[in-house]
Amino acid sequence: MLLFRGSLRRKLLGVMLLTTLVAVIVALAAMIAYDLRTYHEGWVSDVSAQAELLGRTTAPALTFDDARVARENLELLRFQPKMRAAAIYGANGALFATFVANGTNGEFPPLPGADGASVEQRSLVVFRRIVDHGQILGTVYLRADYELFDRVLNYAGIALLVTLIAMLVAWAVSLWLQRIVTHPILAVGMTARKVVEQRDYSRRVEKRSDDELGALIDAFNNMMGEIEKRTEALEASNRDKEREVEERRVAQLQVMRLNEELEQRVQERTAQLERSNKDLALATAEANEANRAKSEFLSNMSHELRTPLNAILGFGQLLASGDKLPTTPQQKKKFADHIVEGGNHLLALINDVLNLAQIEAGKVSLSLESVMLVDLLSECQTMLEPLAKKRDVRLFFPQPGNLCVHADRTRLKQVLLNLLSNAVKYNRETGSVVVDCQVPTRERIRISVQDTGIGLQPDQIKALYQPFNRLGQETGDQQGTGIGLVVTKHLVELMGGEIGVKSTPGSGTLFWIDMLASQPNSTDPRQHSESVVAESDVAGSGGAGLLSTVLCVEDNLASVSLIQAALAGRRDLRLLTAPNGQVGVEMARTHRPDVILMDNNMPLLSGRDALLILRGDPKTADIPVIAISANAMPTAIAAGINAGFFRYVTKPIALPELLEALDGALALVASRKTS
Ligand SMILES: Nc1ncnc2c1ncn2[C@@H]1O[C@H](COP(=O)(O)OP(=O)(O)OP(=O)(O)O)[C@@H](O)[C@H]1O
Ligand SMILES: [Mg+2]
Repeated sequence: MLLFRGSLRRKLLGVMLLTTLVAVIVALAAMIAYDLRTYHEGWVSDVSAQAELLGRTTAPALTFDDARVARENLELLRFQPKMRAAAIYGANGALFATFVANGTNGEFPPLPGADGASVEQRSLVVFRRIVDHGQILGTVYLRADYELFDRVLNYAGIALLVTLIAMLVAWAVSLWLQRIVTHPILAVGMTARKVVEQRDYSRRVEKRSDDELGALIDAFNNMMGEIEKRTEALEASNRDKEREVEERRVAQLQVMRLNEELEQRVQERTAQLERSNKDLALATAEANEANRAKSEFLSNMSHELRTPLNAILGFGQLLASGDKLPTTPQQKKKFADHIVEGGNHLLALINDVLNLAQIEAGKVSLSLESVMLVDLLSECQTMLEPLAKKRDVRLFFPQPGNLCVHADRTRLKQVLLNLLSNAVKYNRETGSVVVDCQVPTRERIRISVQDTGIGLQPDQIKALYQPFNRLGQETGDQQGTGIGLVVTKHLVELMGGEIGVKSTPGSGTLFWIDMLASQPNSTDPRQHSESVVAESDVAGSGGAGLLSTVLCVEDNLASVSLIQAALAGRRDLRLLTAPNGQVGVEMARTHRPDVILMDNNMPLLSGRDALLILRGDPKTADIPVIAISANAMPTAIAAGINAGFFRYVTKPIALPELLEALDGALALVASRKTS
């Protein structure tokens, strides 16, 4: 059964060979059986016929008991080689005649057997009664070769050969035939293997027949189609899933990045918040400090205001009471000096505060120009000397040659005066102040003020530019409001400069300012001021010998008195006064004064409105009107000049300023008259 194990090809071969073998064996067996039967029946019939013939020919010899004839008849059998022995029995059963072929033993049965044929060993034995007219004459005995077994052997040999040949043919045929069956199956197998190996589900097996194998291939191809479809769907779904996974990965990365960014932002914001909180705390502390400084300032201011007011009011009251009027001119001058000093002090205070307010509000207009340091420093020296002398402090000023800085001359002077006054104020007795000019770079000039004073502690330097903070000098003997340096810093920076300080406590302080360097200007300020002076002289001389009329329109009697006193010494002037704007306008029309001094702030008709009326009247239109106002704001001054006032003199009135304005107006009038 080995054939049925293993490949389909072997199984098919086994099936075919077995089938062929069975068919051949059955066919051969049938043929041999038929042949043997035919042989047996034919041979029995032949030998029986021979016995019958022999009986009939021998019957006379029996009748006549002629044994010789009988033997002769038997001897004829010699021509039939397959007859081995023959005998004739008499009616009594005794042997009558016998025949034995050559090479055969001569044994005979002692008595005849019954009619019929039988096979004994490899011989066919036939007994036949010899009957004549119903009388048994005797019995024929024939013994012949019986070749059935030889035939069987022959047939077996032939059958074997035929079977072998048939098997060979069947094997050859099956080899050819099985291709028809196995080829498509193997093709299916091969395709299936390649599909598995290459994962190529588009492969199909070619269909070559419409039989079961065709159906098998169809089924296989259909199955492949289905698998391909499913695989594609699966791959598409896998691709979708991969894409989804990739998208998720990207999204996850983005989320992670966003998280990181968020964390970073949170950290930054937290840091910002912490910084803002610190700034806020700092700002709050600064605001508190500023508030405290302001409160201190107010109390300082109050103190500072009250001190000079005390002198003014005190001496004023003394003068007003009439009891203790000064008698000698020295006493009178002393009284007046106290009052003037107090007034000047007050004025300085108000100017300082206004100045700071303007600077902090960004309302300072600078006129930047090339400022020659040599002049400026000499002016500062002149102004500082009295204070320095008072404190026995020596001043050392440099000779800066023709160094020029780009600055507003007045403001720069203010800055230097602040620094110098501090250097003197906070110096020790018999100390010194050294001013120096250096050129650290081509673009910058450094002006430094070094003193030998008490110096500043590091924490004092930190709080240096805080308004109203006098750094412990509140109780000192030096007067001040604590805004000088704040104003100084603002001004320096507004002019594009920088301020700095170095100090050694106990041995002195150095303040420096760096300013932009510039080239000397062709219009020298000295020439300018000289020309102004020259004009004044001209005006003064122009007015000499003529009596000019001045109308003072002022509702405040004290102010009127002050103006009267100031102009009392002027022999060239005649002073008229009007108590309000309306009367002033009327008087101007009637008296046609040369100059009008007009208070700005009056009830009923303000100075500005009065000016408009005067300008609208041809009789008064050309009269120069000088405004006198307590509103010292630069905008108010500019507005006044724009409105048409000849000059704008602020209260408290600085008498030289008033006189200068008056002379200017008179010079204008004089020049009109001469032209
Ligand atoms: N050269 C200096 N040496 C020592 N301390 C100084 C010097 N300059 C300024 N200071 C300190 O700085 C404070 C502030 O100066 P700042 O000039 O702003 O105000 P002030 O001099 O007190 O008043 P003012 O507004 O009248 O100038 C001073 O009160 C003083 O304590
Ligand atoms: Mg000062």
